Amino acid sequence: MDKEQARIRIGELRDLINENNRRYYVENSPVISDYEYDMLMNELIALEKQYPELVTEDSPTMRVGSDLANRPDAKSGKAAAQQKEFAQYPHRYPMLSLGNTYDISEVEAFADRASRSIGDRFTFSTELKFDGTAICLTYRHGELFRALTRGDGTIGDDVTENVHHISNIPRKLTGGGWPDEFEIRGEIYMPYKAFDRLNAERERDEDPPFANPRNAASGSLKLINPKEVGHRGLECTLYHMLGENLPFETHDQALNAAASWGLPVSDKRKICRDIHEIEEYISYWDTERKFLPFATDGIVIKVNELAFQKSLGYTSKFPRWAVAYKFQAERALTKLRSIDYQVGRTGAVTPVANLDPVPLSGTTVKRASLHNLDQMRLLDIRIGDYVYVEKGGEIIPKITGVEISQRPAGAVVPEFPSVCPDCGTPLVRDEGEAKFFCPNAEGCPTQIMGKLVHFISRKAMNVIAGDATIEQMFRLGLVRKPSDLYSLDKDDLLKLEGWKERSAERFLASIEASKATPFDHVLFALGIRYVGETTAKSLARHFGDMDSLMAASREELLAVEDIGEVIADSVLAFFADSRNREEVERLKAAGLKFSMAEESSEVSDLLAGKTIVISGNFSISRDAMKALIEKNGGKNSSSVSSRTSYLLAGSKPGPEKMKKAEQLGIEVIDEARLMQMLGGSTPDADGEAEAQATAADTRTGSQVANVQSPVAGDKTAEDRKEDGPGSGPEVRQDAEGQLKLF
Ligand code: IVH
Repeated sequence: MDKEQARIRIGELRDLINENNRRYYVENSPVISDYEYDMLMNELIALEKQYPELVTEDSPTMRVGSDLANRPDAKSGKAAAQQKEFAQYPHRYPMLSLGNTYDISEVEAFADRASRSIGDRFTFSTELKFDGTAICLTYRHGELFRALTRGDGTIGDDVTENVHHISNIPRKLTGGGWPDEFEIRGEIYMPYKAFDRLNAERERDEDPPFANPRNAASGSLKLINPKEVGHRGLECTLYHMLGENLPFETHDQALNAAASWGLPVSDKRKICRDIHEIEEYISYWDTERKFLPFATDGIVIKVNELAFQKSLGYTSKFPRWAVAYKFQAERALTKLRSIDYQVGRTGAVTPVANLDPVPLSGTTVKRASLHNLDQMRLLDIRIGDYVYVEKGGEIIPKITGVEISQRPAGAVVPEFPSVCPDCGTPLVRDEGEAKFFCPNAEGCPTQIMGKLVHFISRKAMNVIAGDATIEQMFRLGLVRKPSDLYSLDKDDLLKLEGWKERSAERFLASIEASKATPFDHVLFALGIRYVGETTAKSLARHFGDMDSLMAASREELLAVEDIGEVIADSVLAFFADSRNREEVERLKAAGLKFSMAEESSEVSDLLAGKTIVISGNFSISRDAMKALIEKNGGKNSSSVSSRTSYLLAGSKPGPEKMKKAEQLGIEVIDEARLMQMLGGSTPDADGEAEAQATAADTRTGSQVANVQSPVAGDKTAEDRKEDGPGSGPEVRQDAEGQLKLF
């Protein structure tokens, strides 16, 4: 390749890598595998090596990917808007990545380089490479002081409050002898069990499932509601201690000490003396990792002696004293026995493959999703074929290919059904849709039961009953639609198999309690196609009550943030159907909440004596924001004066107001800061902090950059943005040889 061709390819590779960084770190929904990503990066590294004059400072080979949602170079406004804005703080020591390889000979080369540089009198610490999201914990005087994400390696998001809800991270250390202040870094990950539970819930609620536990972990860590973080079952493992004058000679001693202080440290570490022991460790875990309850994507090999780590030092991106050996994604070959066609609550028909059981990443796989007819055709799949199944942590493994060379004679092309496998109604496929649907929403038993199960689910009406109970109720003719649940009496319930007085009373109490469910959850419970939890929340907040929503025109729906044409049309179609409108009336008569205003109006005096001027747009309407301020004892004012306590700035605040505030020295706060002041984390108009957010549900926040300064003298993200590249903090080694930000 000549220089001009290289220049073009380098440009392409940088764009591709940047885009995939954004999808991986910001959106938590990668579209290529880690392996494919690493191959792109290797190609770029090789070209930059060949043509060093084409290397630029902003090349992705020179910096770590950023998880900051509102980072200066975040390309997608939408992604940024979906993330909560956390306060950001600089890292004391930059948070770097690791050089990685899939090739054992490169691990040998790493070990050779190390011994050429530091001799033979050193050891290696070999460890599992946990597949999660990096975290940096600072402990001061034995207490957790702050938790930062990696961010862009230089500054990170402050997720301390969320980390408090991760059960194995201690707020206080135990034992004794810890330094007054130290940092310890590690990985927050989601064990398979918690991941499967979360995705099952998301699939049921028609929220997009997470592709793998890593994405689920990093999405969950950035949830708005810290309590919801607690429900996600995240765990932490710590693998790197940093600080001034730490009293340890080796990395291993430091981690053993950390473990003795109650910090979670992996017991799967091993000290190796040479490359043979390293290779033994790698090959042992290459098999054994499949039986671990969490995802690992490789092995990390570190020089164990801290003095040698110091002398080997760092490149701009990696330590020279460590390397990661990565395992190839796992794949298995097995036989396709048959295909089932499953009907969901919205009527969508999904083909599911029945396979000869095959072990894969710690579980036995018997079924795999085939997504839709297009995917089946793309794979050219036949019953009897040998197919490749991949998991990579997903709850439902997928079929990624067919081994044509092993195709048996007489393998049959599967026939996609033309009628609903449950009720026999001819299937339809709308234009632009990948899936076929059963249009018999009112009569198809699977759909009816699916809708009822959705209606009572935790994030909807939260009625305590299982799928089997709903099925029994349906089969006995007790319920067909959600409103029927509200007219059940004890005699009806006693007809259910095994039900006694107590279970009936408990169920009725739960039904009664469900009447207090806030409007946005009720809206979600109705099961309107494409209206997941987040969308329901946006619609409920925007329109305030059901009547306004039902009367909304297409244009009015499209004006709601994050509502596109597909959702708008689906909402219109739902309310155009008189049966749905009648059902809403019945539920209203049963006493369910169909208005935000009806919700409990908790009041506080947290803003007593404060006069607040609002400017710009917020995640709730301006009127709702004013009401929120008043409910909490504050006063609204329309112009900034010396009597103003705060200027609350949303996205696109008025420049005049901003200028005036600056002249008068009035503190400017953003929506997130106001919510903090109110002691909650969600801007519910009623001040309730107990919103049940999910990762995709990281509520549309205000787009204004964080205007609060976390600590006096600290630069905010916005300051950095204005400073431009190059004027940020500088990375240097201090006298101890530690990398630091100056
Ligand atoms: S040591 C200076 N040890 O993998 C870098 N990292 O792909 C120190 N990771 O950035 C990192 N398990 O987020 C280290 N046992 C382990 C690890 C580990 C997972 C993550 C970490 C790192 C990334 C690189």
